Amino acid sequence: MSNLSVNHLLGIKQLNKNDIELILSTAQNFKEVINRPIKKVPSLRDLTVANLFFENSTRTRLSFELAQKRLSADVINFSASNSSVKKGETLVDTVNNILAMKVDMIIMRHASPGAAMFLAKKVNAKIINAGDGAHEHPTQALLDAFSMQEKLGNLKGKKVVIVGDILHSRVALSNIFCLQKLGAIVKVCGPLTLIPKFITSLGVEVEPNLKKALEWCDVANMLRIQLERQDIKYFPSLREYTMMYGLDKELLDSLSKKIVVMHPGPINRGVEITSDVADSKQSIILEQVENGVAVRMAVMFLLAGRQSD
Ligand code: CP
Repeated sequence: MSNLSVNHLLGIKQLNKNDIELILSTAQNFKEVINRPIKKVPSLRDLTVANLFFENSTRTRLSFELAQKRLSADVINFSASNSSVKKGETLVDTVNNILAMKVDMIIMRHASPGAAMFLAKKVNAKIINAGDGAHEHPTQALLDAFSMQEKLGNLKGKKVVIVGDILHSRVALSNIFCLQKLGAIVKVCGPLTLIPKFITSLGVEVEPNLKKALEWCDVANMLRIQLERQDIKYFPSLREYTMMYGLDKELLDSLSKKIVVMHPGPINRGVEITSDVADSKQSIILEQVENGVAVRMAVMFLLAGRQSD
């Protein structure tokens, strides 16, 4: 079996194309497994994993836990809000105390960009980044790529537009790295106040007009406005944002081709996407969630099987 080139999954930036293809093909095998009547395999029965969530999550936290259970790993869950972090314990002390209980792998979501990388340098365990501030969300990008491949086949030359709050989005950055490594072409679309200035240096074009962006693309990935990370006003009002950058059925049906619509969740129905689009045949939002379990199984399986450098 081939091996990943990394000891941890800290971001898509550190992966090469072979790593991504290995994860996606392994996820394909696991997707078949979890669609059998008996969904569980003993692959990680010797592994103990801790899920550390310092930020809220529904999809990522639950799908990691389910993926661990499908692989027969032992699981403990930690949420910062009811832990001794509240009494002033540091991140490294917290994790080292958890590792003292013979834990092998840490899945961590944290509000600080770079938190997973910092931890990987300080503690002796495999680390998977489940989202670090506005930096990266690698497993989301991998499940997005997997879902796009299911719909469109090989992503080389496929056109993807990421719409919305690019500035505060870890999903956008990880998707850009992942899609470009797989040969796709990426544009971003949104209010210019929510597009980071460095984006063109990544080889990503900015298309400020939503209709033009949608006419160009094969896939539109609609992002949530992340009000929790916005300390100033980036646009006049949500209503005006929706008028300019919201995707509704009328706009979707006016396009000259059928595009694929994605959203990482959680959705703000009626803001970035209307319900009739989110629930339409062109939307693969729930397929993305389904595929998250298989992709996270693949990541943990491959990292667990890798001897650390
Ligand atoms: N897409 C995503 O990360 O969702 P959660 O915040 O619910 O995990």
